[in-house]
Amino acid sequence: MSNIDVLLGLQWGDEGKGKIVDFLTPNYDIIARFQGGPNAGHTLEFEGTKHVLNIIPSGIFHKEKQNIIGNGVLVDPFIFEREIIGLRSKNLTPTKNLFISKKAHLILPSHRMLDASNEKAKGKQKIGSTLKGIGPAYTDKVARIGLRVGDILKNNWIELYNELKNAHLRLLNSLDDNFDSFLIENMSFYEYEEKWLNSLNTLKEFELIDSEYFINNALKEGKKVLAEGAQGSMLDIDFGSYPFVTSSNTITSGVCSGLGVAPSKIGRVFGLCKAYCTRVGSGPFPTELFDQTGEKLRQIGREYGSTTGRSRRCGWIDLPALNYACMLNGVTDLVVMKIDVLNDFSQINICTKYVIDEKQTSQIPYSLSDNIELVYEQYKGWQGNLCGISSYNDLPKELKDYIEAIEKHTGVKVAIISTSPDREDTIFKVNI
Ligand code: GDP
Ligand code: IMO
Ligand code: MG
Repeated sequence: MSNIDVLLGLQWGDEGKGKIVDFLTPNYDIIARFQGGPNAGHTLEFEGTKHVLNIIPSGIFHKEKQNIIGNGVLVDPFIFEREIIGLRSKNLTPTKNLFISKKAHLILPSHRMLDASNEKAKGKQKIGSTLKGIGPAYTDKVARIGLRVGDILKNNWIELYNELKNAHLRLLNSLDDNFDSFLIENMSFYEYEEKWLNSLNTLKEFELIDSEYFINNALKEGKKVLAEGAQGSMLDIDFGSYPFVTSSNTITSGVCSGLGVAPSKIGRVFGLCKAYCTRVGSGPFPTELFDQTGEKLRQIGREYGSTTGRSRRCGWIDLPALNYACMLNGVTDLVVMKIDVLNDFSQINICTKYVIDEKQTSQIPYSLSDNIELVYEQYKGWQGNLCGISSYNDLPKELKDYIEAIEKHTGVKVAIISTSPDREDTIFKVNI
């Protein structure tokens, strides 16, 4: 009997989950996504090529490993088909090693229209959603009217589809006179809908499974399973910077409901953070930098969305938020990403505490948008290149001091340090 290990983001997403899942996949038999959907953009780089995945788990490039899209994930068949075409063009045969839960909910074209309409109605208060239909599709799931992947096999599928679509169109009609001018993937609703309905054929080529049995049976047989998170803990629906969050539980507990594994089966939890911090979309971000330093992080870190190309907001690492995420997730191993982005900085700041109402605290307040002052500790930069360094001991002393400061403040050991987007540039601090 094995446990299931977890890998997830501790900040506001884009920590580098795709790279590390791909890197760790040789140690596992199965990689499973448990929440989120095409709002995710996970980048992998190896052999000089970059790959971006949205719904498909980041173990897919290892042909002998199995990948699962769990029940907690939202599947958009159109985006799924596009990813599959991309993988096939790279000589992969994903029907052999990708399995999809019948209980995963579907994102309909009209969910995307609703997402656009909701964001438009919010005006300046908009969440900055990826407009992939995530909020409306999870809303329907909770409202018990959603459609699931297994439904596409039913004889009355098209009736079920039309019923939900028409309910959405009636709602859209009442919300926005102009809704039929919204474009999806640069297409009108009906043009896109036709393509979406056709893309169901690609979904049907895959084995649609009861992923909870698949995974629990694998664990019983002693197989090693890694659950791959999407988004980040500060975007969690319950504990993130609500309402500027996504609509799923991005934290470890999401693995239990999103894959059907018991809490007692959770093994190691790899929590990823950048050596600094970024956020894309609206919402509070206490350590955000609006100056040259923020711009320097954005430029060197190439902080532009993997899928949307949107510019990411940048700032220093925020330890009150990181500690909160470690607590919520039960992180056993920290993974520090993009340390190379700090190579050129003479001074690096770490936010260790917030000051709220003139009192210092390490606790996250109810609203992160409240007036928060920040207490920073300053660390000396290493000002050097990390190319070719493959062992922790060979890293510059100042870099090790910085890593050890993160360990001291979080109480969690750093297991892995990433020094470039490439799979190869990954340093173990402890044995995995
Ligand atoms: P994810 O959503 O958590 O998988 O992360 P993204 O793929 O959205 O964003 C992470 C970005 O940082 C991608 O462009 C990666 O190629 C890149 N990246 C990952 N690790 C490193 C690293 O150690 N150094 C640098 N410079 N870039 C990295
Ligand atoms: P990965 O898995 C970064 C953000 C959006 C928006 C908010 C809600 O690549 O780390 P949604 O489309 O879910 O309704 O958007 O959450 N967001 C992400 N930010 N990385 C992601 O995924 C994200 N997925 C959603 O920008 O602020
Ligand atoms: Mg991303």
